[in-house]
Amino acid sequence: MTDWIDHTYDVVVVGAGGSGLRATLGAAQAGLKTACVTKVFPTRSHTVAAQGGIAASLGNMGPDDWRWHMYDTVKGSDWLGDQDSIEYLCRHAPDAVYELEHWGMPFSRNEDGKIYQRPFGGHTTEFGEGPPVQRTCAAADRTGHAMLHTLYGQSVRQKAEFFIEYFALDLIMDDKGVCRGLTAWKLDDGTLHRFRAQTVVLATGGAGRIFFSATSAHTCTGDGNAMVLRAGLPVQDMEFVQFHPTGIYGAGCLITEGARGEGGYLTNSEGERFMERYAPSVKDLAPRDMVSRAMTIEIREGRGVGPNKDHIYLHLDHLDPDILAERLPGISETAKIFAGVDLTKEPIPVLPTCHYNMGGIQTNYHGEVLTKKGRNPDAVVPGLMAVGEAACVSVHGANRLGSNSLIDLVVFGRAAGLRLGETLKPNAKQPALPKNAGKNALDRLEKYRNADGKTKTADIRLNMQKTMQEHCAVFRTEESLNDGVEKMKAVFKSMDDISVSDRTMIWNTDLMETLELENLMANAMVTICSAANRKESRGAHAHEDYSERDDKKWMKHTLSWFDADKGDVKINYRPVHDFTMSDEIDYIKPKKRVY
Ligand code: FUM
Repeated sequence: MTDWIDHTYDVVVVGAGGSGLRATLGAAQAGLKTACVTKVFPTRSHTVAAQGGIAASLGNMGPDDWRWHMYDTVKGSDWLGDQDSIEYLCRHAPDAVYELEHWGMPFSRNEDGKIYQRPFGGHTTEFGEGPPVQRTCAAADRTGHAMLHTLYGQSVRQKAEFFIEYFALDLIMDDKGVCRGLTAWKLDDGTLHRFRAQTVVLATGGAGRIFFSATSAHTCTGDGNAMVLRAGLPVQDMEFVQFHPTGIYGAGCLITEGARGEGGYLTNSEGERFMERYAPSVKDLAPRDMVSRAMTIEIREGRGVGPNKDHIYLHLDHLDPDILAERLPGISETAKIFAGVDLTKEPIPVLPTCHYNMGGIQTNYHGEVLTKKGRNPDAVVPGLMAVGEAACVSVHGANRLGSNSLIDLVVFGRAAGLRLGETLKPNAKQPALPKNAGKNALDRLEKYRNADGKTKTADIRLNMQKTMQEHCAVFRTEESLNDGVEKMKAVFKSMDDISVSDRTMIWNTDLMETLELENLMANAMVTICSAANRKESRGAHAHEDYSERDDKKWMKHTLSWFDADKGDVKINYRPVHDFTMSDEIDYIKPKKRVY
């Protein structure tokens, strides 16, 4: 029998990216004893890679209004977003940004000394009728980096406690479906920990690494989603995966949309600025799903660039080098290192690359995790919350607008902190953990630690990534999805033959990558099965055999459950919220999404 090291907190947040830190900070500010458990050092969380900025209708560069932001977000989501949550996001965005400013976040400035804002795709004025707006607040092209450092400093100031390089294993659920805590493995000394908490907040980020080419860090393995699935709860809308138009060809590293916001443009092998054909009014600043599709079509039709005609050029070489140095210093370095390109003189070779999961753990706008109970599709799971990319609030619906991710992190991280403050009492007495708490997690860990099959973790992971890339990327067809489901079932089955060579508990990266692969696998299975199930095209789900949006049949969220014993995915649905949060704005009725 293992010796667990037991801890008790009011709140345990899992993950220390933007949303995890903002929730940690909020809970600590509310006087709750708060722990943040994270597998990487907080300022190395994937939010550090966010470049172009954070959307909020501050109106520093011209007129703006949170209602216009809301309209753009609903339209960007292809009407799959929940409009009450979208109202919450856009209404509270300015306050969340000013709060960061007051905590010392080093935003770039405009000539008036106010926060600098740049244009980003799909952000417009006058409910989509006016010209593009400069709504994306930026700290050069290192906005996520600046945000993480600001939030980590503030969390430490509020005396939140950090458990760094602890790998979260599983939720502790009781027999009434209440979340009571979490198990974790401390990587540097091999000890095992149980955190008892009034509430666990999952802020574990996305699962971008289910794909071969991704802008996401190698740590983006969907750990929270997988924990929820293992707890028998569903995830929502996993078929909607965002491909960022400008990942560096080959390396996959992000070149911010801010590059096009500052005047960059895409060309094909004929030197044509082809986005003028696909989105005549907003051109290169169309939303990401549209730009990624346009690039893919250009390549398919033989107008790609390079010796294999398999990518596209992004031009910044016409812009003033001083502006590039001031506003885009990060990507100037990235282009040099990863593409060998001096972007003041030559175009950058780019290709759509997996960037973001619109889907995740279903929550309301307080961050409370939801499940169906009886006839209520939105019953709260007691003791469990989720925020950030791990969550599906759902504000991004079928397609997220660029720079709406960082604002999602802080608005809903803050909302979670407020909700925790309202609903929990500091140091309230907690029931004892259920008998055998942590046993399942330990059994899983031991199974893999002693695995003596013949297939290396890295080989199975590569098979999964290549299968997902081939069958579930920018364009999808009935045949490729169905084949992909069968192939993914086989890849999942190959986990039975996995080999782990390191049997120790201390810094066993072989074992940790295997546990991460198990998490990725659950995410990949629900993603491809949900995609195969949705017979329409909406936002990022471009189904060539069902090329139109079908609101009659498919204006609904997909819920998916994963049975890891059988390798089966079960699917059901949840209604899209067709109501707003207040009467200050009416429900935005669906229409054709053209730009
Ligand atoms: O292009 C970018 O800077 C990414 C921003 C985002 O995903 O919101």
